[in-house]
Amino acid sequence: ITNTSDEAKYVSGKIEDAELDVSNDVGLGPLKPSVVNSAPIAGQKPGTSGLRKKTKEFMTENYLNNFVQSVFDAVIAGGTNVSDGTLVIGGDGRYFNPEAIQTIIKMGVANGVKRFWIGENGLLSTPAVSAIIRERGPVWQKAFGAFILTASHNPGGPDEDFGIKYNTQNGGPAPEYLMQATHANTGTIKSYKICKDMPDVDISKVGTTEIAADDGSSSVVVDVIPSTESHVALLKTIFDFDAIKALLEREDFTMIYDSMHGVNGPFAKSVFVDEFGQPESVLSNHIPKDDFNGAHADPNLTYAKELVATMGLDRKGNKIDVSGPIPSFGAAADGDGDRNMILGTQFFATPSDSLAVIVANANSIPFFSSQGGLKAVARSMPTSGAVDLVAKDLNLDFFETPTGWKFFGNLMDSKAVFKGKDYTPFICGEESFGTGSDHVREKDGIWAVLAWLNILAAKNPDASKPLVTVEDIVKEHWGKYGRNYYCRWDFEGMDKTGANAMMDKMRSDAAANTGRKVGSYTISTADDFKYTDPVDGSVAQKQGVRFLMSDGSRVIFRLSGTAGSGATVRMYIEQYEQEKLDMPVAVALEELTKIALELCDIKTFCGTETPTVIT
Ligand code: G6P
Ligand code: ZN
Repeated sequence: ITNTSDEAKYVSGKIEDAELDVSNDVGLGPLKPSVVNSAPIAGQKPGTSGLRKKTKEFMTENYLNNFVQSVFDAVIAGGTNVSDGTLVIGGDGRYFNPEAIQTIIKMGVANGVKRFWIGENGLLSTPAVSAIIRERGPVWQKAFGAFILTASHNPGGPDEDFGIKYNTQNGGPAPEYLMQATHANTGTIKSYKICKDMPDVDISKVGTTEIAADDGSSSVVVDVIPSTESHVALLKTIFDFDAIKALLEREDFTMIYDSMHGVNGPFAKSVFVDEFGQPESVLSNHIPKDDFNGAHADPNLTYAKELVATMGLDRKGNKIDVSGPIPSFGAAADGDGDRNMILGTQFFATPSDSLAVIVANANSIPFFSSQGGLKAVARSMPTSGAVDLVAKDLNLDFFETPTGWKFFGNLMDSKAVFKGKDYTPFICGEESFGTGSDHVREKDGIWAVLAWLNILAAKNPDASKPLVTVEDIVKEHWGKYGRNYYCRWDFEGMDKTGANAMMDKMRSDAAANTGRKVGSYTISTADDFKYTDPVDGSVAQKQGVRFLMSDGSRVIFRLSGTAGSGATVRMYIEQYEQEKLDMPVAVALEELTKIALELCDIKTFCGTETPTVIT
């Protein structure tokens, strides 16, 4: 194909056959690529997790095409041979997923891709994509990358959000430079390539479709693969499935796993029903829906309200009266299956505590014990310091990174950089309900659930003894390490100007605040978190304003990097206690919360001090 640069012919969205030198294409039939003229569309700047916009915007002419072509151009320019190996495509099942998949297949072929793995019905969770890239197929078929169609926990549907992200050969999200190149391409794009005569592929059935050129000169293979196969196979190598099965079969153990109508449903079914032989009643909201049933598929105390009520809690994590039995174990996942929430009977394990407990007990999980034990851990800066205490106690290498899973990926792939030092196996976690390890390069919701069940199984070796519960395990942990009382307040939909001004004020006051007494606390350091990546030396600035108190308590403020519209202010409050382990969180954090509201003065800057979400 030659693409002349005659500007006059660029008519947005129209196929100008005059542009095509078809001499090479004779006989290609369905595989004949067309060059479609287009023009840059403003605002195609990928954020932390790819490009997220309103679904309607994604459905406008050329919107998806421009972005996908810009990714292909960046990937190919970066040296990837897209004709060698496989391209994975799947998503969380939200509205516009099926149409987007067909478009990406046809554009992939036009850009040289010869083999595709598509999740059945277009469904693949984010961690499953990572597992497929890393694990699936013989060497000559190995995936070179993947498109994931998801806006994670953002609502879906024609009036809500859609998203697309690209993952590379290590199974992790595209590195910053690739997304910068993609963004640059979206600003100069003049055309995209697509096989417009290629028939749609039936993605509702597992199987292989081979599409050949009319003259037999080439062909492409589209494999529709079982969505859960690779990921579940990997999970089976990580955990002690027999021990977990025995735990689930105990008379006194019951559980419920809420997939919130996201993509996790089929994965939960495949593990809990097909592998463990549990009845379907352990699954809740496990049928994926393209609008997540109109709900916010985000596993936290506010949005997973059905599960939270079933487990006998209110949205602040306080016990409520429930008629009838409450399950021993409750868990939830977000839209694309990478987040998790862990609950016991009338008990909420905060993500920070959950991380600390998993790390403290990691060696009861075969993945870690078989590799000589866990070696390193990392947490994001706003995540509580509970895991720090475990890392110190167990002599593990420890890293504190900015918010965002990508910072963990670099550390996991650092073997070559830290000569002689091997940081695998590795566990990471974030307060934002993300936990995982270096088995993949994404956070992994079902991994965290199985980690907890494996730990519970190890703590309950004898079925004739009373059940050691989630609450028992967390309380035993606090007894040993002390308790990091923790909570996060979110103020969603704030005015961006006001929120930025608030952050700026705290930044400029940092020096003056250092050493100041506030209530019964003294601010020993006030600063803006800055991170220098030990692997590639890159520096991330302005990652959150921190007030570190002299007794180890912390108050932190950040603006969310994933907010749909307006600004979301996040306020994180943490207080360490060695003795008083049984206070209600709100009581333990009462004074510090008041101080936090005064330190930021959100009332003046944003007009409210009432959060929309408390986790
Ligand atoms: C995504 C990222 C996480 C991050 C989370 C919260 O889920 O994958 O790594 O912790 O967003 O980000 P936010 O900027 O909204 O607090
Ligand atoms: Zn997610």
